[in-house]
Amino acid sequence: MSYQTLLTSLEENIFIITINRPEKLNALNRIVIEELSVAVDEVYNNTEIKSAIVTGAGEKAFVAGADISEFLSFDSTSGEELAREGQQNVFDKIENSPKPIVAAVNGFALGGGCELALACHFIIASDNAKFGQPEVNLGLIPGYGGTQRLTQLVGRNRAMQFIMTGEMIAAKDAEQYGIVNKVVSQKKLLDETKEILQTIHTKAPLAISKVIEVINNFDHTQQGYDFEIKKFGECFSTEDVKEGVNAFLEKRKVNFKGK
Ligand code: COA
Repeated sequence: MSYQTLLTSLEENIFIITINRPEKLNALNRIVIEELSVAVDEVYNNTEIKSAIVTGAGEKAFVAGADISEFLSFDSTSGEELAREGQQNVFDKIENSPKPIVAAVNGFALGGGCELALACHFIIASDNAKFGQPEVNLGLIPGYGGTQRLTQLVGRNRAMQFIMTGEMIAAKDAEQYGIVNKVVSQKKLLDETKEILQTIHTKAPLAISKVIEVINNFDHTQQGYDFEIKKFGECFSTEDVKEGVNAFLEKRKVNFKGK
């Protein structure tokens, strides 16, 4: 598959999706959103792909937001459509991917860029990365899930301040807030991210997709616990659980088949 605004490569079963508009700081225009949707479908459907990394081209930006130049012609209806389609076709699809998708944030992650990183299963950032939801500077609010995912991650009060001030925070502060899992040098960003994914590749793929499903359905009520119980039970109908348990008992290396 060839893309106009994305670079993709498959390296050791990791699909690397690079948003490639460095001259516009990788801003998300309509084509990027459409192509991201297709690229995420590839993650779902290509059996060679075990996990994916989303990153930005160049050393300056991951993604500096939705493409502001497209906003002038918008009204309420087209604005709502943009947010709904983007959320359904890209952000929710990333979040609910049965295979891990990790953001390697290599610079500015602003607006839709911050939301894109938040939709991924977790975030590794380079030390020059900056996070922010500056939509209020334009008279807007986040529209790709930022108010929801950020609030769940950092809590109501921090989310309120972060989104109402529109201020950028540095990678280290984002790590302290729990937005970022690890901060590394830009040179090491992709290698460190790949290393974590290679560890995950050694685990049972069906168990990994259930982990994603159950954590995404996190719920303080009994419903969350009940869902975990159901998914835990389902693991016992996989061949991999027999392989995992037998390998442990026989003190041998495990060989998961994803079945
Ligand atoms: N949409 C469209 N174009 C964007 C963009 C966006 N979100 N962010 C950056 N660009 C473009 C700039 O217009 C500029 O294009 P030009 O060279 O044709 O004029 C190019 O990318 C480089 O950006 P520039 O602003 O010159 O870089 P900078 O280093 O001075 O500033 C930022 C970097 C990130 C602080 C600044 O670009 C910015 O504030 N961007 C918008 C962030 C934002 O509000 N995002 C949320 C959108 S809802």
